[in-house]
Amino acid sequence: MLALAPSALSLHNGLGATPPLGYCSWNDCASEVTEQRIKRVTRALIDTGLAAKGFRHVNVDEGWLASRDAAGAMVADRVKFPSGMRALGDWVHAQEVPGHGRVMKYGLYTSRGTCQCSTKLYQAPGSAGHVMRDAAWMAAAGADFVKEDSCCGSQQHDVALREYAEMRDALNATGRPIFFSLCGWNSWYAERGAQLGNSWRIALDGTNWGALSGSVNRNARLGRFAQPGAWNDPDLLQGTGIGSNDKATNPNGCFDKSQIPQSWNWYLSERQSRAQFSLWAVMSSPLLISADPSQVTPHVLETWSNEEVVAVNQELRRGGPYQGLRLTGGDLHWDPVQGRGSGINVWGKPLPKGAWALVFVNNGPNVSDIVCDKRCYQSVADPTHRSYNVRDLWARRNVGTFYTPQTLLAKAVEPHGGVAMLRLEQRHTSDPVSRRAWTSDAFKRLPCHVAHPTGEWGGLCRPRKSRRHKG
Ligand code: GLA
Repeated sequence: MLALAPSALSLHNGLGATPPLGYCSWNDCASEVTEQRIKRVTRALIDTGLAAKGFRHVNVDEGWLASRDAAGAMVADRVKFPSGMRALGDWVHAQEVPGHGRVMKYGLYTSRGTCQCSTKLYQAPGSAGHVMRDAAWMAAAGADFVKEDSCCGSQQHDVALREYAEMRDALNATGRPIFFSLCGWNSWYAERGAQLGNSWRIALDGTNWGALSGSVNRNARLGRFAQPGAWNDPDLLQGTGIGSNDKATNPNGCFDKSQIPQSWNWYLSERQSRAQFSLWAVMSSPLLISADPSQVTPHVLETWSNEEVVAVNQELRRGGPYQGLRLTGGDLHWDPVQGRGSGINVWGKPLPKGAWALVFVNNGPNVSDIVCDKRCYQSVADPTHRSYNVRDLWARRNVGTFYTPQTLLAKAVEPHGGVAMLRLEQRHTSDPVSRRAWTSDAFKRLPCHVAHPTGEWGGLCRPRKSRRHKG
């Protein structure tokens, strides 16, 4: 009789009920990551308050492994990691997040093929032929998260999927709950992702805005595959990419750009970094910061510290959809070489209790108004619910009460990654009716659907009362 072991069919680690939040070293340090850097960043996550807001994974990407010993066991680079990987894991786990306890998590990296991806300065073996041994080694080092890359491995779909299943089973066999992050750089993983891991990369590295907006386009088609425990991964958050990692511009930088050739265009503007965070929140993407939070610009730190935006990423409506939807607009891609890109998008994510988050992005070359018209609004609003309380998540202020149906207008959104973000909560009949929407300075005396000339939000209109005709 033939019986299939359940572990051959799926991942049973119970992790990733919501997308993971934390740090990954790759865009920060490339292969120059060190023990010192990991400790510095762990403390920075705690001291900036990010860890208390949920950013607790500290993942060491490529750069920690030196070689294998005669028995085939992993050997860490003791120059960069003098205490060893297990001691570092113990140190991360021992850090106290005020008010939350010892909640920090530790992550390690490997590759599915015979070697890791390697920069000019670094070369290391992959897990091919050593899957059980490597899974056990990383579990013993205290890993709570393993990212498995695809370098030097077969890119044939069936082989890649089989190899990822092997690592999944090896991680399951360790008995340690380990978040399994697949890094195969392709959207075709999405269909099988939930059976193999807790997240899967859908595209190549997202180190600049052109690549990231391309990933947004891909992700628009993959929403149905995201679910608790299993997330599409459009790659890391790096802030602006300047001030954190480059030794040339920063004495506390992690690497020298001239030594890491692929880092020449690891760059985003502050505006794009905020647009990325807003989109990653509605797309329920992993929020893995790849910079030292103590060295990024105040604007970038403020962006990542917005707990209301983080909540949009973490809150899920029972029954889904668990990943936000593109409600209006098409291709968001901006091609920095050709200066091309059409992108005006409105994205929406359903939240518990009938609430919604909306993100308005302008990726075109000009300042633009962005409209979520009645059709767009009705696709999110429950038609039986007459009114929604609306909050602007970046301005951090309540805008007022909107009556259904409605047109929402984000006024004068800046080009090349300008963003606005709203949260709509169903107004309970017991809530006092907000009059402020009709009398606030920004909107008073304006006719329906016309924004205040200097304001950001328009369209605060009460539907006409139906007139009663007397007998
Ligand atoms: C690939 C991955 C990156 C990073 C590097 C390490 O490019 O996609 O996320 O892990 O390898 O070399």
